[in-house]
Amino acid sequence: MSSQATQSALALEPIVDDAFVVRKPFLKWAGNKNRVKHHIVPRLPEGKRLVEPFAGSCAISLASDFDSYLIADANADLIDMYQFIKVDVDAVIEAAEGLFVPRNNEAEAFYELRLEFNQAVTSVRKSALFIYLNRHCFNGLCRYNASGGFNVPFGRYSGPTCPSREILGFSEFAQRCEFHHQSFEETFAMAEEGDVRLTI
Ligand SMILES: C[S@@+](CC[C@H](N)C(=O)[O-])C[C@H]1O[C@@H](n2cnc3c(N)ncnc32)[C@H](O)[C@@H]1O
Repeated sequence: MSSQATQSALALEPIVDDAFVVRKPFLKWAGNKNRVKHHIVPRLPEGKRLVEPFAGSCAISLASDFDSYLIADANADLIDMYQFIKVDVDAVIEAAEGLFVPRNNEAEAFYELRLEFNQAVTSVRKSALFIYLNRHCFNGLCRYNASGGFNVPFGRYSGPTCPSREILGFSEFAQRCEFHHQSFEETFAMAEEGDVRLTI
């Protein structure tokens, strides 16, 4: 892994690889660590791999610079989306951008697309709908009913935009990641000696 000094430098600003790629969280996520990452990343111990068992928006991992990452979360839709971004980011961005149109920023269209999401099987389209819902639903919440259906209401934002640059940045970062849909107990069980383990 890079030195602690390098971790500090990377944590200060979003990582801009070129004019089109930005490395910072692209999801709104309740409880995300984006505002406190500057305090956490420089204090991480040295190691080759960072294990993040409660990934959410991956705020800490995205601000750090380990050789590799074990990224996991109990939310299957989240992890499926990250996996699709890793293997075919262009398809995800194309599908997501097609959803960020004015006619889809209306309550009726939102509820139709939310229903489509809830009936969809794992696919690029479902992951694009996940990104659409995140940017159009109330407060960017991610909440499911007892049957597993996403049930956050329409958020009424003016002109939400698709975070394409951040998704591209995530796809570069994702090449160093292994993604798992699993509980934190399973993630810690996969951790190896020398891994740096996040517990938040
Ligand atoms: C507060 S959020 C994490 C925020 C993240 N650190 C960030 O910066 O965006 C908590 C995450 O833990 C996940 N989670 C909840 N219970 C879990 C469990 N038992 N095992 C693994 N992940 C869990 C949720 O799906 C959610 O994404």
